[in-house]
Amino acid sequence: MNNNISQEKLNEIRNSVDIVDVISSYISLIPKGKNLFGICPFHDDNSPSMSVSKDKQIYKCFSCGAKGNVFKFIEDYENISFIEAVKKCADLGGVELDLHFKSLVKDSNKYSALYDVYEDSLKFYHNILNTASGKEAREYLNKRSINDEIIKEFKIGLSLQDRSLLTKFLTKKGVTKENLIKSGLVIDNNYGLNDIYMDRIMFPLEDLQGRVVGFSGRIYNRKDTSKYINTKETEIFKKGELIYNYARSKEEVRNKGYVIVMEGFMDVIRAYTVGIKNCVAMMGTAVTKNQANILKKMAKEIYLCFDGDEAGAHATFSCIDELAKVGVIPKVIRLEENLDPDEYILKYGYDKFKEKIDNPINVMDFKLSYLKENKDISKSEELAKYVNNVIKELSKVNDDILKEITLKKLSIESGLDIDFLKERITEKEEPKEEIKKEVKDDKKLKGYEKAERNLVYYMLNSKGVIKIYNNRSVFLSNPKLRRLANEISAYYHKYGEISLADFLSYIESYPELNETTSEILDLNLSDEVDLKVIDDYIVTIKDNLFEMQIKKLQDEIKKITDIEKQKELASKIADLKIQKENM
Ligand code: CTP
Ligand code: MN
Repeated sequence: MNNNISQEKLNEIRNSVDIVDVISSYISLIPKGKNLFGICPFHDDNSPSMSVSKDKQIYKCFSCGAKGNVFKFIEDYENISFIEAVKKCADLGGVELDLHFKSLVKDSNKYSALYDVYEDSLKFYHNILNTASGKEAREYLNKRSINDEIIKEFKIGLSLQDRSLLTKFLTKKGVTKENLIKSGLVIDNNYGLNDIYMDRIMFPLEDLQGRVVGFSGRIYNRKDTSKYINTKETEIFKKGELIYNYARSKEEVRNKGYVIVMEGFMDVIRAYTVGIKNCVAMMGTAVTKNQANILKKMAKEIYLCFDGDEAGAHATFSCIDELAKVGVIPKVIRLEENLDPDEYILKYGYDKFKEKIDNPINVMDFKLSYLKENKDISKSEELAKYVNNVIKELSKVNDDILKEITLKKLSIESGLDIDFLKERITEKEEPKEEIKKEVKDDKKLKGYEKAERNLVYYMLNSKGVIKIYNNRSVFLSNPKLRRLANEISAYYHKYGEISLADFLSYIESYPELNETTSEILDLNLSDEVDLKVIDDYIVTIKDNLFEMQIKKLQDEIKKITDIEKQKELASKIADLKIQKENM
């Protein structure tokens, strides 16, 4: 949280950038009326549901309810901490940061000790590769056409056959036993603490921010049951959330407009050696929904370039389905002779590979040939099976034109009438679960409840309303709204100004107010402040308060028998009624 950094500094940083510019650098925005709209990156959005307000410097998704100021957007988009997002903004806006702030950025990460362990291990392994003991490994890498420059770029290293080299090194650096074991680089076995990796070429695995969170170790000079060994999953390393080369390729992907997804990280490294730098790889697992969503955010177009073998075709098939779930239709590149991209590039060189990339095939053409593989469609039975399978796949396709083109091809191939085939396609039911809007149904709210809520909305938009709130000593019956209103008032009192976007970073320190603030931001009220309307709100709120007090006294009267006491309460009620009338 931002307890240790001044609100003034936060406001300065936030004001140094324009939310429209920042968000535009991540997603494309189209102006519509007063605001700009884009495809929301925080849910499976198909039509632009996210609005960005230049006036208010906030964004809001009408579908999934994501909302906030520029800090929040960067925080959620990049999966980083609040303070890291602030740092990013400061860099963008050219705001100077002091050392204190920089140390806060580092401390904001509760796993920083673990990150340090990987960073140290990385240097350790990398250095060994350059020593005399690393000769054989260097020769292996060079034989695979991986030169020193690439070794440096991908921070490739080496672990030796010694059982405890890394353990000793890290222990000397002061890493605790707990963190050694937690990191997955050290194991506590019968011989005490020992290195997990021995005699393997070490490929660092980086998270989405480019921080090392684990390793994949490859054998190079002996036989072993496992070619690669990956670090076990930890709190900061989840295979299903990691995309190899994400951080390094991000910029290039944005420039090129498409990302190439490969199976192995060696493929990505190979492509890099020939200057194709917009490639990523999964960690040898099927693409998860999480990864699909990240890929979708990376670029408009996704090219799948998996291994040329049967397994690669199969993986392509399931990846297409996973991407379809988040509304993405990728393109496909298939390599001949069962080659993987690494082998293909080595064998045929850059030009031929580039030609492949420049001519990807559409998913339906890929599926047609995949479904036809090993089938003799001159036999009726196999043809029927093939046609049925294609029809099944066509039912999943959203694109009418692609559907029509494929149908035509299928009709020619099978000799079946196109209308007959078309009738076989079952309409695809919407697979997406409806995202529930959390906005409370207006009709269910009582008048005073609405008045309290709306009043707080206007307090956030105008200092005039905050003044009225204070001068007329408004008391809100809803404790959460009351708390928020008081916080708004305190903020204004302290800083003499209020802007919704700044206030949002202020309440980062008050997570208990999140939900209420979010509800207020969801309101679709006119931005113009009408003092007559504000006055009506306050009258309604006060009226309700009197009524509640009167009701409470009336209930008490019913419960007691003492005549004197009853009289006393009755006179209090009369007083309240007079006050209410004279309000
Ligand atoms: N993989 C793994 N464990 C294995 C084999 C593979 O984790 N025993 C993962 C690795 O992340 C690897 C990916 O699956 O990058 C693809 O595997 P494969 O195609 O077998 O590796 P290649 O990329 O061909 O690696 P190399 O060329 O070094 O053999
Ligand atoms: Mn390979």
